[in-house]
Amino acid sequence: MKMILAIVRPEKAKEVEDGLKAAGFSSLTEISVRGRGKQQGIVIGGMKYEKLPKELLMITCQDSELDQITEIIIKQGRTGNIGDGKIFVINVEDVITIRAGEHGEKTL
Ligand SMILES: Nc1ncnc2c1ncn2[C@@H]1O[C@H](COP(=O)(O)OP(=O)(O)OP(=O)(O)O)[C@@H](O)[C@H]1O
Ligand SMILES: [Mg+2]
Repeated sequence: MKMILAIVRPEKAKEVEDGLKAAGFSSLTEISVRGRGKQQGIVIGGMKYEKLPKELLMITCQDSELDQITEIIIKQGRTGNIGDGKIFVINVEDVITIRAGEHGEKTL
């Protein structure tokens, strides 16, 4: 299993979520975050903003679903401008559903 951490533009988060949902991937966790990438923030009107608001979408999936999910995130989240975001992929050892006490891929 993999965990996808997708940091996207706040104004693109709904489009990404809608695209995922339409493809059958409705489970996710969303957190509002602030961050910076290669450009180390942004200068607007002489004012330096060290960090910019982004939405962090956390999605755990089967290995076989990874490419489809990341493609949807890119398609729906991309503007082509700097600051479109980043996708990090992490190996997940186990998933446990608290209600049923079940482990593993079948719980996703
Ligand atoms: N190396 C990193 N580690 C952790 N978070 C990162 C890293 N790079 C980017 N981020 C997060 O992703 C967000 C968006 O990054 P951003 O899209 O600016 O990436 P970038 O690498 O600078 O690409 P671009 O050149 O397209 O702007 C940042 O605000 C930050 O939250
Ligand atoms: Mg950047």
